[in-house]
Amino acid sequence: MNEAPIIVRSVEELRSVIKSAKKHGSRIGFVPTMGALHAGHLALLARAKQMSDFTVVSIFVNPTQFAPNEDFDVYPRHEAADITCLTAAGCDVVYLPDVKEIYPAGSTTNVRVEGLSDVLDGVYRPHFFYGVTTVVARLFIHVQPDVAVFGEKDYQQLQIIRRMVRDLKFDIDIVGASTQREADGLALSSRNAYLSAQDRISANRMSFALHRAACRISTGAKVSDALAEGQTIIAQSGFSKIDYLTAIDPGTLEPLPDGPVAAGYRGRLLAAAYLGNTRLIDNIGFERSGS
Ligand code: PAF
Repeated sequence: MNEAPIIVRSVEELRSVIKSAKKHGSRIGFVPTMGALHAGHLALLARAKQMSDFTVVSIFVNPTQFAPNEDFDVYPRHEAADITCLTAAGCDVVYLPDVKEIYPAGSTTNVRVEGLSDVLDGVYRPHFFYGVTTVVARLFIHVQPDVAVFGEKDYQQLQIIRRMVRDLKFDIDIVGASTQREADGLALSSRNAYLSAQDRISANRMSFALHRAACRISTGAKVSDALAEGQTIIAQSGFSKIDYLTAIDPGTLEPLPDGPVAAGYRGRLLAAAYLGNTRLIDNIGFERSGS
């Protein structure tokens, strides 16, 4: 049985634990989360454990990444169950700061990655990445990790964090971990808990549409034809509003020009759409066959 993780709630306690681990030569692995942990988070922790000797998971439902009309108040919070999960998974430290610890009174310093934060989800949730980069920068300064792991499920977030780390010269390796899925293909997300039984049945059609479009682009279909078919699949599956289904360059997040992509090209397909009041996002990579 694993030892229970050390629980810390203040940056001072955290720093003392990290200082002692570093003194013993440990490489620090970090997984930031908003809690309501599922197998996707545990896969991030498993990846962090492979790449470090001492792991920290933070649980903080970050108010600055929610707009006033979004689900901050009802976002699932299961601290005790999360700690039980993290104990079983062999996490060393759980950092559970409160809002004052992350945003001390009068705090006005924010981090914004321009450009990458203004497209795709940035168009529909303009506050979102601004809040994410601000909190992740603060968490990086608190935890001082050597490596941090983020899910590819939030593909745009991962690319933005990479850019922030590059621009601010944080000495942290950023690792992307592949998306964990239910048996029917639905990407794991804490927000899947909001889906009604009926919506849960339709929810996997987004990943089906992405796979179908990826398969068509990989075998030479025009990007616009593959996306149009994918949109139809999603629209006919009970999704009420499609924010986007798009094919992008994975580094710049720019939409791909229409037409078949060049042989050997590796791109990414991203989607965001609502089932009832629940907004689902997903993405997959593709590679055009041939050379
Ligand atoms: O991906 C998430 O859960 C959050 O956006 C993160 C990175 C923990 C920041 O609050």
